[in-house]
Amino acid sequence: MRPVKIKPPRNGSYQPMGLRQRRNLKRIGFALLSIIALIYYFYTPFDYSAVDFESHEAYMNDRLHAKGFVSQQSYDWRTAPFFNKINGSLTPLPTGVPRSLPRIQYEFPEETASQKALRESRRAAVRKAFQRTWNSYRKHAWKMDELMPISGKGLDTFGGWGATLVDSLDTLWIMGFKKEFYEAVDAVAHIDFGKSESGTISVFETTIRYLGGMLSAYDLSGEKVLLDKAIQLGELLYRAFDTNTNMPQDRLSLEAAKKVDSQGAAADGNICFAAIGSLTMEFTRLAQVTKEPKFYDAVARVTNFLDRAQNKTDIPGLFPTWINAFTLDFTSDEYFTMGAMADSSYEYFPKMYALLGGLEPVYEKLYKESAPMIDKYLLFRPMLPDTERGEDLLYSGDLFANAGGTGRFDPEMQHLTCFIGGFFALGGRLFKNEHHVALGAKLTEGCIYAYEKMPSGVMPEKFHMVPCESRNKCPWNATKWEEHVLRKSYAETHEEFLDAVKEQKLPPGFSHIKDRRYLLRPEAIESVFIMYRITGHQEYMEHAWNMFEAVQRASMTKFANGQVLDVTEADPVPLPEDKMESFWTAETLKYFYLIFSPPDMISLDDWVFNTEAHPFRRPKSTRT
Ligand SMILES: *[C@@H]1O[C@H](CO)[C@@H](O)[C@H](O)[C@H]1NC(C)=O
Ligand SMILES: *[C@@H]1O[C@H](CO)[C@@H](O)[C@H](O)[C@H]1NC(C)=O
Ligand SMILES: *[C@@H]1O[C@H](CO)[C@@H](O)[C@H](O)[C@H]1NC(C)=O
Repeated sequence: MRPVKIKPPRNGSYQPMGLRQRRNLKRIGFALLSIIALIYYFYTPFDYSAVDFESHEAYMNDRLHAKGFVSQQSYDWRTAPFFNKINGSLTPLPTGVPRSLPRIQYEFPEETASQKALRESRRAAVRKAFQRTWNSYRKHAWKMDELMPISGKGLDTFGGWGATLVDSLDTLWIMGFKKEFYEAVDAVAHIDFGKSESGTISVFETTIRYLGGMLSAYDLSGEKVLLDKAIQLGELLYRAFDTNTNMPQDRLSLEAAKKVDSQGAAADGNICFAAIGSLTMEFTRLAQVTKEPKFYDAVARVTNFLDRAQNKTDIPGLFPTWINAFTLDFTSDEYFTMGAMADSSYEYFPKMYALLGGLEPVYEKLYKESAPMIDKYLLFRPMLPDTERGEDLLYSGDLFANAGGTGRFDPEMQHLTCFIGGFFALGGRLFKNEHHVALGAKLTEGCIYAYEKMPSGVMPEKFHMVPCESRNKCPWNATKWEEHVLRKSYAETHEEFLDAVKEQKLPPGFSHIKDRRYLLRPEAIESVFIMYRITGHQEYMEHAWNMFEAVQRASMTKFANGQVLDVTEADPVPLPEDKMESFWTAETLKYFYLIFSPPDMISLDDWVFNTEAHPFRRPKSTRT
């Protein structure tokens, strides 16, 4: 509907109406228009079956923009103060023609009819599992952060803006749930990022789940509303950089950030490496699609800082888990890991290189100087009775360094660390390093093995293995295994060893299961998926299917899937917890779905995933 304007013609033939006549006409017109607008606003049923999805963009734009939903915020973050002015000019996105980077995916041959039938049946099973979860979320926890999968209630955990809703947008699109997708987009358009009932938000989680989720869904669908919402949220998150060093805060208080008399915030004296270094992809993608340099500048400053610090840490090349962002000190912590609190900052080095079309060499440098140190200091081969199998496996542990390099190594593996197989394989392909691709395969194999060895078929959250002294030769030594088990159990006798093995159901070579839960995490299937796309080896599909079936068996609840309390129990399967984080639908089920999809669906040569499994479009290179 166009607004009606009575426009006098330019030349003199126009006969003006009387004033009263005009007023009356205006009043009647205005009243009529208001009534029509009200009817339209309140009574138009949103009938998705009538929607032509091919030409949907115009429809959504009419519907949402016309009603002002998109600008419907209680606070406009563009007007928020930014006290700690950015010094100097803004770092622009690198310019130039994207470089032709090495091919990442295997050139898959045509599959046979029976291969296709099997693959498609598995793919359908994953889609069904997603649909079951989604329907329950929609029915019982709509617009809330999480569905509680046993009680069927909703739960707010990440700002209360609908974490599962936003995190699942691209999965809906990829799985072809178009009707559900547009219904979700409509709900996202109503989110008010101007306030949060939780007061403060995690900058990292909000960035990877919400901002990443909307940017990816925008890249896939072209749905303009999602870009508008991403900008609204990006403007809010940008305030996290208003600190004395312009390093991002870990948690942002929304109300404090709105205060005009604020002095900005002090940067955190203690922030984990993951929280400071893994905002790069999302802010870069936001800058690419909006052409707004401040979003890129904000993270480029962090990267500069990492670049300068990289060879000054206790283990040059690696970054400690905790960092002083107030003094920009990188030497106050001696704990080095690829697991929780560090993981995604390393993960983003090669991925940023790809996202920027190879035009920013600092990410190549950050990868090339960290990856060999990870290999040298953190990776270990496990000692196993089956030495041949052991030779094909690697895990990644933790190092407590003393200045000077020597330190205490802790062979603890976390489920979170399972991303590392995909990390090395992707880095190996991008930077033409076959050794790294081989490391990626062994690290992925390590996670597959840990899944296989648990009675439930699912890997625990954290466990310890006995590390080999040499990766080349590592004979089984039962005495050594016993020693490690006893040390971890603070015990001494052979009987206590037997008890520990029985009680923890320790397979030979495992010395301790520190956390027996499985939290519906994606990292193992993520690496299996990447290895499959890179090598084309069919056995990854078999492993993926075994993992999927085991996860379903252990985690299925009345409404969806819940966190598994004890992966060492399988008979009977114990009741899962009443908890399902948004990464179940955003990541875990997406990677399961993609490995059973044709390999050109979200090809790694066209897309790069953020750490929440949200694919961003890579710049078109001149590669032929
Ligand atoms: C900006 O420059 C001023 C003057 O050199 C300095 O005092 C201030 O700390 C700098 N701010 C940041 C965020 O680097
Ligand atoms: C770190 O690297 C910079 C430049 O790459 C170099 O100038 C400096 O000497 C290095 N510092 C150490 C401690 O190796
Ligand atoms: C097996 O391990 C024990 C304990 O670490 C050690 O004393 C012993 O020498 C090892 N045996 C062999 C054959 O290496």
